[in-house]
Amino acid sequence: MIHSRATTDIIGHALVKGDWDLKLVPLMPMVSIREILPPWSSRIVPYPPGKPVEEVERELGRPAIKLASNENPLGPSPKAQEAIRRVLDRLHLYPDGHGYYLRERLAILHNLEMNRIILGAGSTDLIELVAKTFLTAGDEAIVSESSFHIYRLAAQEMGAGLVTVRMRNYTCDLAAIARAVSQRTKVIYLGNPNNPTGTMFTADDFERFLDAIPSRVLVVLDEAYHEYVRRPDYSRSLDLVRAGRNVLVLRTFSKVYGLAGLRLGYGMGHPDLIEALNRVRSPFNASSVAQVAGRAALDDSEHVERSLALNAREMKFVTEELTIAGIRYIPSVANFLLIDTGRDCEEDFIRLLHEGVIVRPMKLYGFPTAIRVTLGTHADNEVFLEALQRVMNIPAAVGSATGGAAETVQT
Ligand SMILES: Cc1ncc(COP(=O)(O)O)c(C=O)c1O
Repeated sequence: MIHSRATTDIIGHALVKGDWDLKLVPLMPMVSIREILPPWSSRIVPYPPGKPVEEVERELGRPAIKLASNENPLGPSPKAQEAIRRVLDRLHLYPDGHGYYLRERLAILHNLEMNRIILGAGSTDLIELVAKTFLTAGDEAIVSESSFHIYRLAAQEMGAGLVTVRMRNYTCDLAAIARAVSQRTKVIYLGNPNNPTGTMFTADDFERFLDAIPSRVLVVLDEAYHEYVRRPDYSRSLDLVRAGRNVLVLRTFSKVYGLAGLRLGYGMGHPDLIEALNRVRSPFNASSVAQVAGRAALDDSEHVERSLALNAREMKFVTEELTIAGIRYIPSVANFLLIDTGRDCEEDFIRLLHEGVIVRPMKLYGFPTAIRVTLGTHADNEVFLEALQRVMNIPAAVGSATGGAAETVQT
């Protein structure tokens, strides 16, 4: 047991409780930590997660709503909750390290062989696993300028160079990304739909792009919001996996399945790629609870359909209200919206917090005057729209749009 910071700083020892008595052991001075860190460590900007709702409620002393992390406002799949309750008495056992039954279920769902599927502690885990497996100092990864921050972090954690390509019309500029490939490029990270813009590229665009990329470069195609997209020209990514192309397609249980707290995602790619990733993967990265919940969530089509219907309705309602209020937003195919308030986003974020609404300021993503808001329940969205208009000093007009407002959703 370390007694107190003051004691250890002065004498340079920590008091440690052994089996029978207290011993003094030398403490390494903190300065050594900096000496042993790799040089790229200081350049890493940690991922700023959405502010927890409990924290805001504690600070405000009243209920708040969180529309900051693109979670499912209907909560977790009820079938997944039931499955979790059924395995609670087996928590003393380690999980199946290869997630056999969940991979089997996914293989049937996607018409793929099991050896093309890998599980992760969320898709974030797999984004990092790709970097860990393939990147070293001297290699390069390419990302779009305003895309999910974890792509950058993953490359930077390995000391790899990062090439950032500007977006075009708030969308990943695939032609510019293809031109940015160099001899050092090993990995390209793409989000489709892209977070935080909510924009997408088509299956045709992506296939043209992939044809222009050398096969020695791995393209990570992050489809975390795949289920929300309703456009028929969206994605044929699994055909590319079946054809053995140089892609790793990522999906997650954190969004439409409502299981973000469980940490479960999966990747699909060529068996050689999956085998290489498995060599580096932490052996029990998908917990036993996550594995059974994931299987049950895949069978819960009712929850998925309700979630998608709510999202579609609320996207229509919120965008119509924003239009009426004259607030600019980027049209989105996902479950969130990038809203340009034209004002300092950090200040708007704080003002909205005081109104009890948690959103995400987008300065880190290159949009200093934009916030990202997740679509919530109809009631949440009304609260958000009213709060936003108060914050922006716009006379409230919520409820004037027709779409969605008349429909109520049971939560
Ligand atoms: C584009 C994108 N990919 C991946 C993730 C992370 O998902 P997971 O919870 O599966 O790690 C997110 C989460 O917000 C995301 O926006």
